[in-house]
Amino acid sequence: MELKTDTQEPDMETAMKVVYQWNYGSELEELRRLYVKGAQQQWVSERDIDWEQPIDMAKFASMPISSTIPFEKCSYFRSLPDETRWEVTRRGVAFRLSNFLHGEQGALMVASQLVNAVPHTDAKFYAATQTMDEARHVEVFAAYLEKLGGTQPIAPGLKNVLDETLKTGNWMQKLVGMQIVVEGLALFAFRRMRNLTEEPLLRELLMYVSRDEARHHAYGVQYIERCVPEMGDAERMELEDFALEASRILVTGQNDNGLITSLLQAFSDLDVDAVALMESVRAERDEITAGMPRLQQLGPVAGFVLPGLKRCGLLSERVASHYHDFLQGTVNAATMGDDVAEFMERIPGLPEDTAAWVLSEVD
Ligand SMILES: [Fe+2]
Ligand SMILES: [Fe+2]
Repeated sequence: MELKTDTQEPDMETAMKVVYQWNYGSELEELRRLYVKGAQQQWVSERDIDWEQPIDMAKFASMPISSTIPFEKCSYFRSLPDETRWEVTRRGVAFRLSNFLHGEQGALMVASQLVNAVPHTDAKFYAATQTMDEARHVEVFAAYLEKLGGTQPIAPGLKNVLDETLKTGNWMQKLVGMQIVVEGLALFAFRRMRNLTEEPLLRELLMYVSRDEARHHAYGVQYIERCVPEMGDAERMELEDFALEASRILVTGQNDNGLITSLLQAFSDLDVDAVALMESVRAERDEITAGMPRLQQLGPVAGFVLPGLKRCGLLSERVASHYHDFLQGTVNAATMGDDVAEFMERIPGLPEDTAAWVLSEVD
């Protein structure tokens, strides 16, 4: 007999390989340190977060919806009735939080696969702590969304990248797809959201989650950076392409069929004139983006994913030109530079201390 639930997806076949390691001693000291840190920094959602507190609706309503275009600042949006603005914000933010939640489920499953697939004992240990972390992240985002009125479906671009990362039999692709690309984008978005929201419960849970994510990202960077020099050219190029494809799908796919689609639906339900809104944004573009921090203007890929790939040795000129091409089709186009050389110069280094960076208030 097969036990099935009403809400599960059909099974997905994966090519995951499982590897035993008989050397139980530490070979990768930096990963062993991260594992100890991961164990020391465990927290318990039910104990450490006060779930009795309601969402502070007034503070929630001032939250920016999109991570890229601050359209809530334009005059047309500000002229809408309070209830309409509140409902657009609630739905837009719920869309983003829902995708954080679904991404966390993907991370939970990838982290548990890494326990099986990575060859070093230290790396298996670390992935075990990450698996526990990701379970907690799923738990807290789900609990917050329940208070906010429910979960929205996963964006197709994110689903596609999670599927590919789960299906590949290559553990380095899993690490790059999850720890560098998906978690890189997530860290950038968590930091921005935590910086800009005043809603106390959301700020609190983002603080806990971001601190864990900074460690997950460090694991990916430190492990991959060690492995890349030992790879052959063809293998390394394949890994570069995997990261490129994942970034492209997440960035262009989300613009096409994610948040925008969800917002257009909200606009139509709530009688918001989307054309008038867009015209107002276009006309006031300079004012509403003035004072936006430089890193924010670069966006999540150039601002954080590419610095991670560069550190790992996975940002050759060959792939950089493809990143430059597709990023010129995004809202961050203006900051990408005219050619690949200029583009490469604009890519910042990774922050020295990612955990401090993700919890800091200014760029
Ligand atoms: Fe997570
Ligand atoms: Fe994570």
